[in-house]
Amino acid sequence: MAEIKTIGVVGGGQMGSGIAQLAAVNGVDVWLLDTDANALTRATKAISSSIQRLVSKGHLSQAIGTDALRRLRCTSKLEDLHSADVIIEAIVESENVKKSLFSELDKIAKVSAILASNTSSISITRLAATTNRPHQVIGMHFMNPPPIMKLVEIIRGADTSDDTFNATKVLAERFGKTVICSQDYSGFIVNRILMPMINEAFYALYTGVATKEDIDTGMKLGTNHPMGPLELADFIGLDVCLSIMKVLHVGLGDNKYAPCPLLVRYVDAGHLGKKQVSIIYPCI
Ligand code: CAA
Ligand code: NAD
Repeated sequence: MAEIKTIGVVGGGQMGSGIAQLAAVNGVDVWLLDTDANALTRATKAISSSIQRLVSKGHLSQAIGTDALRRLRCTSKLEDLHSADVIIEAIVESENVKKSLFSELDKIAKVSAILASNTSSISITRLAATTNRPHQVIGMHFMNPPPIMKLVEIIRGADTSDDTFNATKVLAERFGKTVICSQDYSGFIVNRILMPMINEAFYALYTGVATKEDIDTGMKLGTNHPMGPLELADFIGLDVCLSIMKVLHVGLGDNKYAPCPLLVRYVDAGHLGKKQVSIIYPCI
């Protein structure tokens, strides 16, 4: 595939804004699309302040930071993504919503474009099946926060071509990431292992094993994790964690993946974590 000059990112939340930033600082022109105009305003602010933070710490030159902001354009019109060589989807973790978007993207994207999903857990094969280009659909799973975390997990669907895989790998490496490859099973590698741990931390809290502070301190100091599992859930978004647990539960068909009722209750109550207002795990 020719060099990737323009990408489209759909979804301007915490992941989409981070992916857009990463692409722009690596010299790619970016269209960032969200259906919510407020999300685009928040994304632009978050990208500016993250770039400023990287510049002030000497991780990025001012010239590259300024160039990145110039490369970034926001839109709410799907048609604007027609010029993109690769479109990376980072919308809500719902199979039906993503399927409907992939079928729309297939209509507006240029024939050669790759359609990638940043999904945490959902089948790439089933997303690809909603398009007429399943060989050009792939999972490109960034970690949060995308500008900082060093990994991209790549997932091939049943029909993903070698060309699509190679172009996606080259793009991830251009962004400075280490690539790992997963088969297309629910939760892939990272969330297959991480989410049951987070869910278990909720069970520990739910069943009164320990306080939230001791659960997090235990995993931080006892296993050298940068964040405790409850703090990490707050950082990822409790809605995202619950959606992933549901996909693991249904997709792998084992009750050991059943979402903890306390996690369900927080999400029911609208306590989603840091992206909204950070929650301190009150007893509800
Ligand atoms: N933009 C720019 N710079 C950032 C940043 C951002 N959004 N976030 C952090 N940084 C930089 C800071 O400026 C700082 O730089 P220096 O080292 O030069 O000082 C560095 O990163 C560390 O930041 P902080 O000192 O503020 O905070 P920290 O040391 O706690 O690090 C963290 C923050 C990198 C997020 C760290 O806490 C961490 O690694 N947490 C775990 C994150 C994790 O596990 N992510 C994966 C979640 S799972 C997933 O993503 C998959 C899924 O599908 C759910
Ligand atoms: P988020 O809630 O922060 O943002 C989602 C954004 O998508 C919102 O701004 C919303 O307005 C927008 N959106 C929803 N439907 C849309 C549509 N049809 N068209 C355009 N925009 C739409 O979510 P997030 O945490 O950024 O997660 C996005 C995706 O990335 C999910 O699939 C999630 O599983 C995955 N992911 C999340 C993390 C994480 O730590 N949060 C890590 C890796 C992957």
